[in-house]
This record gives sequence, C-alpha cells and structure tokens, in this order.
Amino acid sequence: MFQTFRDNVLFFREFSRHFETTGSIVPSSRFLAAAITRHLARRSDSPIRVLECGPGTGVFTNQILQHLQAHDTFDVVELNPAFAEVLRSRLATDRRWQAAANVTTVYQMPLQEFASSAPYDFIVSGLPHINFPTAIVEQILDCYLRLLKPGGTLSYFEYMYIRPIRKAATLGIDRNRILEVDALMNAHLGKHRVCRDSILLNAPPAWVQHLTHQ
Ligand SMILES: C[S@@+](CC[C@H](N)C(=O)[O-])C[C@H]1O[C@@H](n2cnc3c(N)ncnc32)[C@H](O)[C@@H]1O
Repeated sequence: MFQTFRDNVLFFREFSRHFETTGSIVPSSRFLAAAITRHLARRSDSPIRVLECGPGTGVFTNQILQHLQAHDTFDVVELNPAFAEVLRSRLATDRRWQAAANVTTVYQMPLQEFASSAPYDFIVSGLPHINFPTAIVEQILDCYLRLLKPGGTLSYFEYMYIRPIRKAATLGIDRNRILEVDALMNAHLGKHRVCRDSILLNAPPAWVQHLTHQ
C-alpha cells in the first residue's frame, strides 16, 4: 500500500519533469502487468533470457520476477536515474525481489544505446513510442528485433486509440512526427503482431501488443 503510494508520487514527479519520456501520470495497473507478461508466464523450465525496457517504478518488473528461475537472465534498461535507483534499492531490500536479484541487472541508459552479448526469449516494453521523435522510434523498433531471439516474444502496450486521437488532435509542426510514428508502428505491427489484448482496467485503458519475428 505504502509502496504503491510512494511509486505514484515518484511517477507523478518524474512525469512533471520529463513528461515525454515518462509518458504517463501514474504507473500501469496490475491487470496490464499480467497481460503484458502472459507469454512469459507460460515459459518452459529451460533457462531463459528476459529484457524489460522502460520499467519506471517496476509494476511489470514485479510480475516478471515472479516467473524467473535460478538460471535465467533478466536485464532491465531504464533511462531515468530516479527510476533506476528505485529498482536497484527494491532488489536490495524487498524480500520478494531479492530472490531474483542475482539474475537481474539494471542498466541506466537509453534502450537505443543498449547492447547485449546474446538475444532474448522475451522482451517486455513500457516505452511510450508515440512521444518520441521519428528517428528514435525507428531505432527502438530496430533494437527490439535485433535483441529478440527468432521465435521469441516481444510485448508492449499503447493506450487505446491514442494514435488516431493524436493524429486528429495534433496540429502544427508536431503533426508530421505523429503521422510518421503512426506509419512506423503500423508497419511494425502489420509485419510482426501475433495478437492483441484489451485491458480496460488501466488508466487509461490500453492495448497490449504481442509480436514475434523469425
Ligand atoms: C510509460 S512509462 C512505463 C513505466 C512502467 N513500465 C509502467 O507501465 O508503469 C515509460 C518508461 O520508459 C522509460 N523510458 C523512456 N524512454 C526510454 C528509453 N529510450 N530507454 C529506456 N527507458 C526509457 C521512462 O523513463 C519510463 O520509466
């Protein structure tokens, strides 16, 4: 309860400081967290590699950690130092998180600059793509495919109808960027999407997109 309150306060503070990269006023709901990790929940017992992008205060992290086993690898990439610090401190002090602390590494850096020695079986992303410049979205979508194992699962979310709403409501110089990002996302989803979940119990309601590549 206190943890949730503290996370909400931090999230709001970071939203007011860095609204474009934070992308939301409050963390996602546990219903969205369950949906975005549902493929991971059906994992086999062989060791797996999991990457989380943009964990914020860790609502998806909390869910991912419940599915990890001793020989897995879990890498977490977060741009914002305040969020990275919260995650590191929780891994050191929260009893439920400590169990997976030795397979978990938090990297405080932009995903576009993250390199890994091996690809991942599961990638879970909370990045607010619609807020980024077109070139960054292109780099991030390339990163996902480069970092995902063939046959692996990439899951990310977007608020329901956010792209059509932003397309209709954005005028001036930002309009071109919205149109370009929308086209990039549509092409990416058209080529790689496996299925989509609708999550109404989230503020605002969201779609979880699950993708793969060969
Ligand atoms: C919409 S919040 C999602 C937070 C959390 N996953 C949730 O759903 O509550 C977006 C998160 O992505 C992080 N972020 C934004 N751009 C990033 C980038 N280029 N690389 C890594 N993290 C980034 C933000 O700092 C923030 O923590």
